[in-house]
Amino acid sequence: MENRFYTFVGGNTGPWSITGVQPVIGPSLEMAPCLDILNANLQEVPPGAQWFLRGVTSNQRYVTRPEQASLVAIQESLGRAAATCAALIPITKNATWWALTQDERREIFEARSSHIATGLRYLPAIARRLHHSRDLGEPFDFLTWFEYAPSDSEAFEELVAALRATEEWNYVEREVDIRLVRKDRV
Ligand code: HEM
Repeated sequence: MENRFYTFVGGNTGPWSITGVQPVIGPSLEMAPCLDILNANLQEVPPGAQWFLRGVTSNQRYVTRPEQASLVAIQESLGRAAATCAALIPITKNATWWALTQDERREIFEARSSHIATGLRYLPAIARRLHHSRDLGEPFDFLTWFEYAPSDSEAFEELVAALRATEEWNYVEREVDIRLVRKDRV
């Protein structure tokens, strides 16, 4: 069976160099030299590492069939040779968000914040994978992971700024922005 667990380890090993760790809202994470991403459910911080964050890939909650078709038609996979830049952005939403119903959340997420419509404009340049952590009792609700080429860095900043300015982000109570470069592809 497919293993849907991922563990992100901030420490001294791994293919990604961490270039910056910025708290956006709430407490930050410690700076670490490298990031390793394991397709596994680690039970403890590996020796010498500063932190680990776990999440699972899951079914989609909000996308409609037409949105799904648009995403599938243009989205790229992770691991492209030219995608030497990455961002790991762990996010937690507040109790008010989680007390809403699914239809109320979809209304804010897409009808009023255009998360998918905005994101689609940045495909295929940005490849992404969403990990859910809330039900694992982790410190963050989501671990969002993005890969892009250096020439798309500005576009990525524009996208992140656009999303942070939306109504959806009023419900974000913790966000850390971790930037990385791929060691073996630079
Ligand atoms: C690259 C363009 C992007 C696209 C195409 C995109 C698309 C999506 C889609 C389709 C979902 C909903 C999945 C579902 O139905 O459950 C989603 C969820 C999410 N995205 Fe994005 N996204 C993009 C960029 C971003 C960025 C830059 C961030 C963070 C700064 C972000 C943070 C999130 C979070 C936290 C969720 C989970 C929301 C929730 O379930 O409450 N996304 N995204």
